[in-house]
Amino acid sequence: MRILAIETSCDDTSVALVENKGGFKVLENIVSSQIKVHKKWGGVVPNLAKREHQKNLPLIIRKIIKCSNPDFIAVTNGPGLEPCLWVGINFAIDLAERLKKPLIPVNHIESHLLANWAELGKKEIKFPALALIVSGGHTILILVKGIGEYEMVGETRDDAAGECFDKIARILGFGYPGGPIISQKASELKKRKYDIKLPRPMIYQNNYDFSFSGLKTAVLYEFQNRSPKARKSKDYIREICFEAQEAITDVLLKKTIKAAKDFKVSTIILGGGVVANKSLREKFKKAAGEAGLEIVLPSAEYCTDNAVMTAVTAFFNKDKAGDWKDLSADANLKIGK
Ligand code: KG4
Ligand code: ZN
Repeated sequence: MRILAIETSCDDTSVALVENKGGFKVLENIVSSQIKVHKKWGGVVPNLAKREHQKNLPLIIRKIIKCSNPDFIAVTNGPGLEPCLWVGINFAIDLAERLKKPLIPVNHIESHLLANWAELGKKEIKFPALALIVSGGHTILILVKGIGEYEMVGETRDDAAGECFDKIARILGFGYPGGPIISQKASELKKRKYDIKLPRPMIYQNNYDFSFSGLKTAVLYEFQNRSPKARKSKDYIREICFEAQEAITDVLLKKTIKAAKDFKVSTIILGGGVVANKSLREKFKKAAGEAGLEIVLPSAEYCTDNAVMTAVTAFFNKDKAGDWKDLSADANLKIGK
């Protein structure tokens, strides 16, 4: 069975063709990034993103459709930036009608979670598991009782972790997206000289929620209170990037491990763009090993937005297939209970 999937929830125009014959095989996977368009604005500008999707989607589809014969069309219908979601949805409805194939709507958060299944092969996941989905728009802890059986146990009360990386990068004068550049600068740190200390918000609170907006403000004050000379120094920038990355990943790790123990799961599943962060990956692997927990995480290319994960998720939601002529974008679509 072949699924052609479209993902336009944020700033990547992505189309994939995925086959399932017992396991998943990626036949096509195109991601057209809009980083160049949004970089100078320090974040994603929804109307520019919509324009880029409208421009790119027909070109990408034309490339893929020639050699494919999909059984289903899939599309992300939320959560995400509403104007961007609509571009993918309208395109998918039209394509499904033209090809006379059923359409499957896909939840973007579930797709970040199920991205892992694209690469699982014969490996089986033991449920219940605890998933941390951490991206530019979301920071959510989900108790996963099985595929499709989700209970949200915690989320951010303000900014998402990826958003925090992006806002800190903007304060430091870097462009969008912030995660990769902060990670790069942090990895160049040799020795701490400036004694930079940032808060780990909510780390010891007895709940599974997060808060990152205070951390961004702490970075702003730390940066503004330094001399112009320090602010221009490479060592200072490396150290503040390192400390900011440590603060974000410490909180994510501590709260996830606590939730995994409290809910007595044996597996932690990670997903979302921030999971591309090398330091986070290493920390989670080490801590999970020490706690006797299995850890599952996608390779970096399936952490950030891609339509392979959309196709894989559609496969597990085949019961939703229909003509969906009235499918709407839902910018705030939730996952689970
Ligand atoms: O999942 P994603 O591609 O889009 C959303 O659904 O939001 O995530 C994008 C986010 C951005 O905030 C970006 O800064 C962050 O993921 N990100 C990273 C890294 N690569 C991307 N954050 C930390 N380290 C990275 N290496
Ligand atoms: Zn995403």
